[in-house]
Amino acid sequence: MDKKTIRLAVFVSGNGTNLENIINYFHDDKAVEVSVVVSNREDAFALQRAKNHGIPSVVISRKQFAEEPETVLSAVKDCDYIILAGFLVRVPDYLIELYPNRIINIHPALLPKYGGKGMYGHHIHEAVKAAGEKETGITIHFVNNELDAGEHIAQYRVALTDDDTPDTIAEKIHVLEQAHFPEVIEKVIKAE
Ligand code: GAR
Repeated sequence: MDKKTIRLAVFVSGNGTNLENIINYFHDDKAVEVSVVVSNREDAFALQRAKNHGIPSVVISRKQFAEEPETVLSAVKDCDYIILAGFLVRVPDYLIELYPNRIINIHPALLPKYGGKGMYGHHIHEAVKAAGEKETGITIHFVNNELDAGEHIAQYRVALTDDDTPDTIAEKIHVLEQAHFPEVIEKVIKAE
């Protein structure tokens, strides 16, 4: 018997390079569909990327996430997994309860280091540089009620030198994200 298509909702806040990579990775895979893109910012370039691929998108503000569960639940209706791809709003508890071990986040550092409030995007790379770290990396993890503290699925590392700057660290992270995020998602969603 044919298995049902696995439907993904991808949550974004910004550029959407991870979103684009996920869309391309699953493009020819009939078992997986990026069904909807949800952004908390209407000016996120990720929305343009969704449009270019003909994928429906919804803008839901930070306030709506907190106060209008029905708006969020209607956007992810029929989705099996939620992928956070550069999503900078805290995931509300009602969603975590409905999607246990079905919300996957990518964090641009080796958690538990450089996680928690205020630790996102460039702030992380600046903190990593300031601390003189010899390596950094990415953590792909399930989302639970504690910020950046859900069970790890995979980590990938990259060495740093004294010459690295926050910008070159960001580039190294980008390379790791592009190389690994979609295949890790695939492993999780096809494991059942
Ligand atoms: C990515 O580096 C992702 O790991 C990071 O935001 C960037 C989004 O880039 N996420 C966080 O910092 C979450 N705390 P993108 O919009 O080009 O995919």
